[in-house]
Amino acid sequence: MDYTILQGKKGIIFGALDQESIAWKTAEAVHAAGGQFVLTNAPVAMRMGTINTLGEQTNAPVIPADATKLEDLENLIDQAQEHLGGKLDFVLHSIGMSVNVRKGKHYTDLNHDWMAKGWDVSAVSFHKLMQCLYQKDAMNEWGSIIALSYIAAQRTFPNYNDMADNKAYLESIARSFGYFFGKNKKVRVNTISQSPTLTTAGKGVEGLDGFLTYAEKTAPLGNASAVDCAHYTVMMFSDYSRKVTLQNLFHDGGFSNVGVSEEVIEALTDPS
Ligand SMILES: NC(=O)c1ccc[n+]([C@@H]2O[C@H](COP(=O)([O-])OP(=O)(O)OC[C@H]3O[C@@H](n4cnc5c(N)ncnc54)[C@H](O)[C@@H]3O)[C@@H](O)[C@H]2O)c1
Repeated sequence: MDYTILQGKKGIIFGALDQESIAWKTAEAVHAAGGQFVLTNAPVAMRMGTINTLGEQTNAPVIPADATKLEDLENLIDQAQEHLGGKLDFVLHSIGMSVNVRKGKHYTDLNHDWMAKGWDVSAVSFHKLMQCLYQKDAMNEWGSIIALSYIAAQRTFPNYNDMADNKAYLESIARSFGYFFGKNKKVRVNTISQSPTLTTAGKGVEGLDGFLTYAEKTAPLGNASAVDCAHYTVMMFSDYSRKVTLQNLFHDGGFSNVGVSEEVIEALTDPS
């Protein structure tokens, strides 16, 4: 088996904050698979996180960019191409944030300015990123762009709050922009809908522990970890998935197609 399926491929990885981040695990997996990349995160996250350690480990420069700012994205894409010596083959958008979730605002009592901010960071930034990549013609043919999503985009998960709406919007952008990227540049665009995962963003969701256990007991294969997600993304960046585009790909141990599991029924059955 060839473990270096990304040899010769170059890209940008957004969103590695700390060792728990899905983007952190993805950077390690892409590096192990032979890929070369630039790491980026919001300037404020640079100060909070440990991204420079990851940069040293994976031989990747770290270039700050607020993904809601076009000028930051343009500068990042220019610098990344300069550093990597050409166009890009893969981009990971692993970005999410809701001010309402952070501040514990209930969905029935949202602050709509905060809602707009979270939407801009979590969803519109994906459009901004792809628009910059598209207009700069920065992607190689058969390149692959991935954003991370969650099943609350399709089904109701009350504690996911306004992030559910942001993810629905994100998945729609993937399909809409993916059409033009496919047609005109032969680049694929997909979202990966990942299991609940213990990360900084994940821990912000109220009742995450119960959520994780429920998903674990429901999914026939159990929850997918951040490392599992990283491996799936490597496959999606590789030439083995060249004709997959405009999809929301569930990576959740089968959770999304189960109504109820025997374990959940058992846990809820009155023994008397
Ligand atoms: N953890 C989960 O349960 C879970 C499940 C499904 C999908 N996801 C998604 O996976 C992605 C990564 O999240 P994670 O769980 O690894 O958590 P994380 O907190 O480690 O990553 C979120 C990242 O978004 C970055 N970010 C926030 N605002 C930004 C901005 N303006 N510009 C650039 N970057 C910005 C943060 O700095 C951080 O690195 C998110 O899209 C998240 O919604 C997470």
